[in-house]
Order: sequence, then C-alpha cells, then structure tokens
Amino acid sequence: MGQLPTLEDYKERYQVDEVHFVDEMVQVLQSKSPSVLLTLAGINTDSDLPAIEATFKGIEKFRADNKILFPVIAECRVIKTELELDVLRYASRISSEAHRSVMRKISPGMHEYQAEAIFKHYVHYVGGSRHVAYTCICASGCNGAVLHYGHASAPNDKQILDGDMLVFDMGSSYYGYASDITCSYPVNGKFTEKQANIYTAVLDANRAVMKAALPGVSWVDMHRLANQVVLTKLLEMGLLRGTVDELLEHNIGSLFQPHGLGHLLGIDVHDVGGYLPHCPPRPTIAGFKSLRTARELKENMVLTIEPGCYFIPAILEKAFKDETISHLLNQDKLREFFNFGGVRIEDVVVIKATGVDNLTDVPRTVEEIEKWMEKTQTVSP
Ligand code: GLY
Ligand code: MN
Ligand code: MN
Repeated sequence: MGQLPTLEDYKERYQVDEVHFVDEMVQVLQSKSPSVLLTLAGINTDSDLPAIEATFKGIEKFRADNKILFPVIAECRVIKTELELDVLRYASRISSEAHRSVMRKISPGMHEYQAEAIFKHYVHYVGGSRHVAYTCICASGCNGAVLHYGHASAPNDKQILDGDMLVFDMGSSYYGYASDITCSYPVNGKFTEKQANIYTAVLDANRAVMKAALPGVSWVDMHRLANQVVLTKLLEMGLLRGTVDELLEHNIGSLFQPHGLGHLLGIDVHDVGGYLPHCPPRPTIAGFKSLRTARELKENMVLTIEPGCYFIPAILEKAFKDETISHLLNQDKLREFFNFGGVRIEDVVVIKATGVDNLTDVPRTVEEIEKWMEKTQTVSP
C-alpha cells in the first residue's frame, strides 16, 4: 500500500478543519451535539440518477435531514468560484491544444478512433489528464448527424474518407473538472462551398449567442437565437421556404438541431442545477425540451455554447410528409445534403458581467481552420 497519508496530510490537502477515522464517527459527532445532520439525497434532473445518501452505523442516534442539502449543494455547483474557474480554464486549454493536434494530424484514410487516440494521448501526455470527461465522439461523414456517436455500439470505427466532414467532440477531465469542445472541419483541410456555407451558419449562431449571453438573459432565448441564425442561412441557401418568422413559428430549427443549445458544465460534463425548484421548468416543444437548463444566466456560471446543423434523413423524411410544415422545406435541395452529416461548434464559456469569457481556443473561422491544417506544418506531440 505504500506510505499511508496521515490525518494531518488529508487536512492539509482538503483544507478542512478536522479529520477523523470513520470508526470514530458516532463518538466525534456526539461530542458536538448537533441539532441535525444534513445528508445529501436527490435526483439529478439531467441524468435522472439519484445521489445515494451517505449513512453510517449509529446514524439513528441523530436527527438527520436529507432534504435541505441537495438543492443548496446543486446551486453552489452552478456558480463557480475563482479556484474552480482556474481548473476549468486549464481543462479547456489542454483540450483545445489536443483538438489542434488532432486537426494537424488527421488525414483521409485514417480511422475515427485514431483521432480519439491522438486526443487522449495529448491530454494525458502533455496535460496530465488521465481521463476524458465523456466518451469521445469522433464522427466522420454521415456519422456527424448521429448525436452521441462513439458509444459502445458505434465505437468511432469508420474509416475517414476524403471529402468527409468531421464532428469531433472531445473534452478532458482534470481533477474532476470537465471540458467539452466540438470542432467540425473537412478531413482534407479544404471546405467545399456546401461545407463552408453550413459551417458558417453554425459559427454565426455560436458567435451571436456568445455576444448576447449576459447575466439576466434567458437560456431559452439563446436557443431560439441560435435557431434563428441557422434558419436565416438555410433560407438564403434555398433549402427552406417562407420567412424566418414562419420557420421559427413552426419550430423548423428543431429538424436541424434536435438538441439543446448547451448546458451547465463543471464536475459533471452535463452539470447539476439545470432545473432546481426555483428555476423555470423544462420547455415542452421539440429541440427546446432537450435543453438541460432553462435558467436565466448568472455571473460565473459555466456553460457550453454548441449550436449545430445536421441533416438527419429519418427526421427530414418524416417532415416531408407532414402537411403542416412540408411547404417550408425544399425537398429536392435538402436531399442533396442527406450524405452531409452535420456541423457542431461547441465552446466552453464563463458568464461575466460584461460578456462571456471563452475558455476554448481553437481555429474557428473557415480561414483559420484551412491555415492550421496546411500540411506543410507539423505539431508535437
Ligand atoms: N459531449 C456531450 C455534449 O456536448 O453535450
Ligand atoms: Mn456539450
Ligand atoms: Mn460536446
């Protein structure tokens, strides 16, 4: 077992007032005559998983309350301290560097899992991050339209073909704090016109939200804003018909982005506190109901901003048959995108009084990406 840390070592490491052995629990607590012991129990509104209440032999000798603590702890986790922000900033810096490394090294003919391997190697070897915050999503071509691609039954195992668009969603975990970054780009380092148009639509949505996200702003309004920017571009491209207002009214945005705009992030990648009792309830309409929070923004919240645009044949085929919306869709043009996959652009940001602090630092514009991917350059490791 090697040298065991002492009680003093633990006190120093965790900066707590007292440390005792577990078999002294009852005796130590009794000596303090507490009026109540607060234990943590509750359902995580994101994962629906319960926090399993702590207990110990002899707890029946005390009055325990398992209701008070959960919403308070969850709210504490929503608003980050400066020290927490330091760790989150580091996790996103290393993850950004790792994405840049993948971007330089990827090429047609490689397999998706090799992008995962490059990312994990970088965050561990350079950043000391042994773990990633979630299963790496390394989707190429059509797989870009599969939301949580990379899971056990689709383990990033496709060969990447020349011309494929990539949706690489990966983030490290450092001392338990997560990052969650998505980069989308063509594997060959040169955008086609189609790819550039869809990519720019999503980037414009990402930047519009980033500009508007201030304390007091509703996250639901930000989701709508992102939809509006993407729909405006799809209309300009002739993929849609009608007006932007009509498209918004019929919630056409949810056909192209069936997930929420972003989520709270911290110790969990989809962090707690999204729907606490004092918060607005979960919306009910498609797309919006996938939001992991409907809260108003507050200073020092950390969230992802991750608009996307995907061409999902199953969703679009159904929409073509729906008489209430089919007149808004240019079927022939949309079918030309059935092999496109998708684009997602995901940044980790801190909400500040005067605007967001973007913790993500990767090439984002078409020009920046193409320049970064020029094959004459090398990067290590
Ligand atoms: N990587 C999971 C998500 O973006 O929410
Ligand atoms: Mn995310
Ligand atoms: Mn992600």
